[in-house]
Amino acid sequence: MNTHFNDSGLELLFSTRRAPASVLGRLIDTEDTDALFSAAMIRRREYYGNKIYTRGLIEFTNHCKNNCLYCGIRAANKNTERYRLTKPDILECCRAGYEIGFRTFVLQGGEDTYFTDGILCDIVYDIKSSYPDCAVTLSVGERSRESYKKLFDAGADRYLLRHETASPGHYAKLHPSVMSLENRKRCLFELKDIGYQVGSGFMVGSPYQTLDNLVEDLLFLCELKPDMIGIGPFLPHKDTPFGDFKKGSIKRCLNLIAILRLMFPNALIPATTALGTIAPDGRERGFTAGANVVMPNLSPSSVRRLYTLYDNKLCTGTEAAEHYGELKAKAAGLGFEVVSDRGDAKALRTE
Ligand code: 5AD
Repeated sequence: MNTHFNDSGLELLFSTRRAPASVLGRLIDTEDTDALFSAAMIRRREYYGNKIYTRGLIEFTNHCKNNCLYCGIRAANKNTERYRLTKPDILECCRAGYEIGFRTFVLQGGEDTYFTDGILCDIVYDIKSSYPDCAVTLSVGERSRESYKKLFDAGADRYLLRHETASPGHYAKLHPSVMSLENRKRCLFELKDIGYQVGSGFMVGSPYQTLDNLVEDLLFLCELKPDMIGIGPFLPHKDTPFGDFKKGSIKRCLNLIAILRLMFPNALIPATTALGTIAPDGRERGFTAGANVVMPNLSPSSVRRLYTLYDNKLCTGTEAAEHYGELKAKAAGLGFEVVSDRGDAKALRTE
């Protein structure tokens, strides 16, 4: 394709998928978003046309043994009402979701020790037996290699585990000392090795984050080569140590989505709930920057407000799975088509 971008750094990233750290740093804060988003849109179209894939998100437990300093469902937060869905609850979410058109179910939860390998494998196995044409994605945090293998053998196809930040010093500022970036990376590489399609990602604008940290995040992802990449702005939660920190920037977040699309043209990149929460049109802007996935909430409405990772987390409107029609119409208005499909990652072209 004979395309040329005036910015030589953008041109380089567009044509080679890579750029030096200094160029990446500059593009993260570029004001020329038109050029950046057009470049990203070309790549998105080459790999995925105008399609948007959906995943039905089932937030099945908000119990968590961890104490990540940014997260509203951290163990130390005694103001959160805790819940756990049962297997019949989860299967009912899948049934309702299948009818709406979802062909991927994401089981997301805190690190809840109640969900042993046996209990979780049984749930995964039953979902896969009932809906063999669907993908099951797990997002249940750090576990042992054996545990990941058992869950994979029970039928799980994909795993989401954000690295959150790729610089060890910054990681230590966001997490208690019992957690480490090293272990997070161990999990990610083991998941890949076992055969999962792996998703990672990071928060944009988390406390103490520098521009260099964001560049490190991009470089770490080059090493990991994930199939899915989820990013969203940091949003404070009042009952956490970071309750008084300011939110991440939507501009940086959108620029990073476009940069990720250029670096990882075949990746599945969601317009996240956090992006939809920070601005009313955040998710739509995410699609025009290069995102191609959306994960509406399929959890029973009685528990939705309890999965509060941050204040004012969206769980209504097009964020809710039952408003699928509205989501389709909004996407169509921007020239995108929401499809009913597993939405696996396409192979990277290496010409
Ligand atoms: N603001 C934004 N994102 C958050 N997450 C957790 N807490 C917050 C917050 N306060 C993100 C983390 C986690 C994902 C499930 O939600 O990146 O991996």
